[in-house]
Amino acid sequence: MAETGYMARKSIAAIVKSGESGPLCLTRTLGALSITAMGVGAIIGAGIFVLTGTAAAQYAGPSIILSFILGGTACAFIGLCYSELAAMLPVCGSTYTYTYATLGELFAWIIGWDLILEYAMGAATVAVGWSGYFVSLSRNAGINIPPSLTASPGVIVKMPDGTQVAGIVNLPAVFIIVVLTTMLVLGTKESVRLNNIMVAIKLFVVVAFVAIGVFFVRPTNWHPFIPKNTGEFGSFGTSGILRGAAVVFFAFLGFDAVSTAAQEARNPRRDMPIGILGSLAICTLLYIAVAGVLSGLVPYIELNVPDPIAKGVDVIGIGWFSILIKVGALTGLTTVILVLLYGQSRIFFTMSQDGLLPRLFTRVHPRLHTPYLSQMMIGTLVAVAAALTPINVLGEMVSIGTLFAFVLVCGAVVYLRRSDPQASRPFRAPGVPVVPVLGILLCLLLMVGLPLVTWLRLVVWLVIGMIFYFFYGRNHSILRHPERGLD
Ligand code: ALA
Repeated sequence: MAETGYMARKSIAAIVKSGESGPLCLTRTLGALSITAMGVGAIIGAGIFVLTGTAAAQYAGPSIILSFILGGTACAFIGLCYSELAAMLPVCGSTYTYTYATLGELFAWIIGWDLILEYAMGAATVAVGWSGYFVSLSRNAGINIPPSLTASPGVIVKMPDGTQVAGIVNLPAVFIIVVLTTMLVLGTKESVRLNNIMVAIKLFVVVAFVAIGVFFVRPTNWHPFIPKNTGEFGSFGTSGILRGAAVVFFAFLGFDAVSTAAQEARNPRRDMPIGILGSLAICTLLYIAVAGVLSGLVPYIELNVPDPIAKGVDVIGIGWFSILIKVGALTGLTTVILVLLYGQSRIFFTMSQDGLLPRLFTRVHPRLHTPYLSQMMIGTLVAVAAALTPINVLGEMVSIGTLFAFVLVCGAVVYLRRSDPQASRPFRAPGVPVVPVLGILLCLLLMVGLPLVTWLRLVVWLVIGMIFYFFYGRNHSILRHPERGLD
């Protein structure tokens, strides 16, 4: 195996060893329950609380249910592949690490860079969703935040009295990022404990919405189930289901964030597959149920609002339940942001250990044991993005970036089965190569469903990443320059 050049691969044995005994290892404090809770905490968020409504109103109508089934099917294949890799390479770094061991350094860098879209931009997306529910709840409490301070430039806020106001900056989104970044800097263990409680509240609220809402559904709202295509690709009809699936694919993201915690898991070989597949299964079933109930409660054209679930609850007409749902949504969205911010710092940690990013991303606070500098820089970047970008632009970028990363994850499983057949695989994905190949095809299909402008943004982002690699990462890579070692 060549150890130089862009195709230089990390050896699997070395990766596993570094995860078990590396000098910069994080403490192993997480058990299976915490990891599954982390998965559910990362998965249920702005996708179901916000994007379901906007995607139903703009693309799919009630057939958004089919979009969820399509997205969930793709995730099942990807989740199986992820579980094999996460159990085989129980270190932090997720897809990035898997790619380093398979396709080599250049691809690993591309993926690491691409994952910023999923984690950092994902956190920004959810923060904007959080802001929507926060504004709605504040209104219930009689506090009216000036609308221009709750939306990014380019967004027109429609007020309850029908007036329209242009957004300037999304301050509630900035606020939540600052609070959560501070928590993560102060200590992971405490944050995880709070995360478990918040996940429980979120699950309760989602289940209550389905259980109560189902009695208020008006089946006429489900007709037509697949609204007729307007003549434009992605605007209702079959292509609308596809675009809807690509947009709500965002709702499934997070199961992979679990793998970024592998280095902090007590028994990663057992806990990783449980965490990934378990959380994915729970969320997929809930999504299908929520999408069905929401589109049955409210005519789909009315769902293009920042707080669609709250709108569904208004139909039920129980005042306190509406407040409860909003509080639950806020709690739920908080857990997602927390896990995404956490995951991003762990990916940067690994990339920095490999020399592809500056060393400051590996600096762990001597007393707090957290990568504090990295976490603060990420918080700043995410807060700026959330303050200034509309949710649909952020959400579509996250979806396309992550789908691209997942194509490589599925490819990595097939590749490693051939290149390293003897490596220990505590969890084996069934039906290889059929399962990974179906995963790849479904990811590509969903990517096709996204608008051209989103593809262009992805290309620009990747080009910026390549420039960074050729000016920095290539020259500092530990694999390519082992004599340098870590400071
Ligand atoms: N799946 C997460 C959400 O929907 C990212 O917010």
